[in-house]
Amino acid sequence: MRSFAGRDILSLKDFERHEFFRCFEVAQRLEPYARDRRNGDLLKEKTLVVAFYQPSTRTRLATEAAMHRLGGHVTGFSDAKMTRAGDFYQESIKDTVNMLEYYGDVIAMRHYQQGAPAEAAKYASVPVINCGDGWGEHPTQVLTDMFTIWREKGRLDGLSFLLVGDMRMRTMHSISYAMTKFDIKAYYVCPPDMALTPEFKAEIKDMGLQFEEAESVEQVVDKVDVIYMEPVVQPDYTKSRDERKGDVGLTPKEYQITKDLLFRKAKPDAMVLHSLPRMDELSLDVDTTRHQRYWVEAYNGVLMRMALLALVLGAVE
Ligand code: CP
Repeated sequence: MRSFAGRDILSLKDFERHEFFRCFEVAQRLEPYARDRRNGDLLKEKTLVVAFYQPSTRTRLATEAAMHRLGGHVTGFSDAKMTRAGDFYQESIKDTVNMLEYYGDVIAMRHYQQGAPAEAAKYASVPVINCGDGWGEHPTQVLTDMFTIWREKGRLDGLSFLLVGDMRMRTMHSISYAMTKFDIKAYYVCPPDMALTPEFKAEIKDMGLQFEEAESVEQVVDKVDVIYMEPVVQPDYTKSRDERKGDVGLTPKEYQITKDLLFRKAKPDAMVLHSLPRMDELSLDVDTTRHQRYWVEAYNGVLMRMALLALVLGAVE
């Protein structure tokens, strides 16, 4: 079994099945810190460096909160414009990382450029955690999602997932890789111009994923145990920042989940996950239904980041 100690967390493509369960087990073991709102000392001699080149609410703060809960220290930046990477010098990832590795023991990076955390990992002598790279991948979010599903359903094998939204999105790539490690049937629903690429479809098929594509959530929502959502009204994830300018449009009903749809067609125990933030694809009235699991997903995000930090820093065996 590969050790997590010193390892980069860059992609779920090469994550082994038993490694998901290892992360789940450690997350559960560390849960009392988050549940009881207290900080321990497991990582008291360690420092997390956050290097966020793109906006974030959940990923950065959950990772920082996880480090605080384990008694560690946090430094870094959440706006690259205030660093030399974002001003006149446009300092390279290589030169930036060659500095950051001396400031802490693990680097959590979000970047607008796909592959940037992998490039950072080539130069860093400390573990690098990919916190979202362009349209590429978002492994810590999807580990959180899979953990949430496993906790709620008690299993991953034998479940059916509906994936709805923009399939170019990094979460959709990571969850597709994750699903290949389990006996999961997937249904993808997205606008034609936001579909998985033929190359990616061939790759996940080759990795053993059973999947179908459908034109609307209405067609398949009755078949699934898990509804996993992303907006179709999206910013450009290859930009460091994409401000809203004027009208951004509405989500067609084919890609919307509403309370009415869930009550009419969904399985009684179907659960809705959304990595958030949302636009109008997930109506507010779903928040008060029994199907909603995106708020507990936020709590689980702290547990999963505690587990990942403790594992890559070698604080748990
Ligand atoms: N889910 C997610 O990645 O949210 P943030 O962009 O707020 O980190």
